[in-house]
Amino acid sequence: MSDDVRNTAEALSSITEHWQPHRLTSINDYDVKVVKLQGEFVWHTHPDTDELFMVLRGELTIQLRDRDVVLGPQDVFVVPRGVEHCPRADHEVHALLFEPAGTVNTGDAGGDRTAQLRELTRPVEGARDLRR
Ligand code: NI
Repeated sequence: MSDDVRNTAEALSSITEHWQPHRLTSINDYDVKVVKLQGEFVWHTHPDTDELFMVLRGELTIQLRDRDVVLGPQDVFVVPRGVEHCPRADHEVHALLFEPAGTVNTGDAGGDRTAQLRELTRPVEGARDLRR
């Protein structure tokens, strides 16, 4: 969608709300989102798509009905389509999400945790300073 360099740390530094995904970039018909997570989300299912989580910072527990999946920095996990899950972050987590454009964060559950995907509020630039 763009030939600009995107930087996850810069993007996350501009985000203040937990559980509010922001679009970092897109590839074909998928969105790459950055999000800060803290606390417990809601149990939900995505009936039509898998959902990829990559943790950048912190420790994220993805509760499934039969087990907990614990992800640390650089860990990637795909929640299969149709599998009920509930993310939980006891401390703040920074994460990337990969999923088809239009995927709703609360899946089939709806409710007041449903968030519209937001665009980043300022250009992702000046990233080199953050890498040091
Ligand atoms: Ni989900």
